Amino acid sequence: MDITNIDGNEVIGKATESGICKVQFNGTGNKLIIGSSVRLTGVAIVFGGSNSVIEFGDGSRLRGTFVADDGCNIKIGQRTKFNKPCRLHAAEACNIAVGNDCLFANVRFRTSDSHSIIDLGTGQRINAASDIVIGNKVWVAENVYIYKGVTVGSGSVIGAGAIVVKSIPENCLAAGIPAKTLKTNISWDEKRI
Ligand SMILES: CC(C)(COP(=O)(O)OP(=O)(O)OC[C@H]1O[C@@H](n2cnc3c(N)ncnc32)[C@H](O)[C@@H]1OP(=O)(O)O)[C@@H](O)C(=O)NCCC(=O)NCCS
Repeated sequence: MDITNIDGNEVIGKATESGICKVQFNGTGNKLIIGSSVRLTGVAIVFGGSNSVIEFGDGSRLRGTFVADDGCNIKIGQRTKFNKPCRLHAAEACNIAVGNDCLFANVRFRTSDSHSIIDLGTGQRINAASDIVIGNKVWVAENVYIYKGVTVGSGSVIGAGAIVVKSIPENCLAAGIPAKTLKTNISWDEKRI
């Protein structure tokens, strides 16, 4: 793993790596925690500021880019797999928490819109950043965007091409733009049964 600016930061644990894997620290007091049997394939990890934690749970498989800005945390649960390159960006002191046994294609997560939308009447910002929480055993199909403040309940499936801007309950199939619940009382299996 190619590490830039390790001074004042910590990398705990070691992964099996393939492709180019890089970690860039831009501040201090950051921690990258790698559980046992973690596999990284072409992963870029960027700590944009200070005092952030990125944690990959035991047996997880990661691909893509993980960005934690100042005071933001990203936690990926045990055995969760990213089968295609993803991009997770935790910004504006918000966190991304992903549960155990999830399966993702090329997803994009973003806790902040990165720019402000302002109500002209009040002068107040109306698009506050917020945490993203994904439960256990969630399957997210190809080309999905998950944005600020969304919780996806355990056992749910998000269909290809969805843009998820509101929370989705447990054990539902949701898809579309914006994503809506299409089926309830479902579960899924990685195997083609
Ligand atoms: C989400 C998905 C798994 C759902 O499959 P399914 O349960 O067989 O769903 P159905 O085909 O019965 O569709 C149910 C309804 O949802 C709609 N729908 C299904 N997938 C949709 C999607 N991705 N976006 C928008 N609407 C969708 C259907 O049009 C249908 O609507 P209707 O009831 O008004 O006719 C599938 O559509 C999908 O997205 N497959 C891609 C999986 C993938 O990316 N795999 C890569 C490996 S991770």
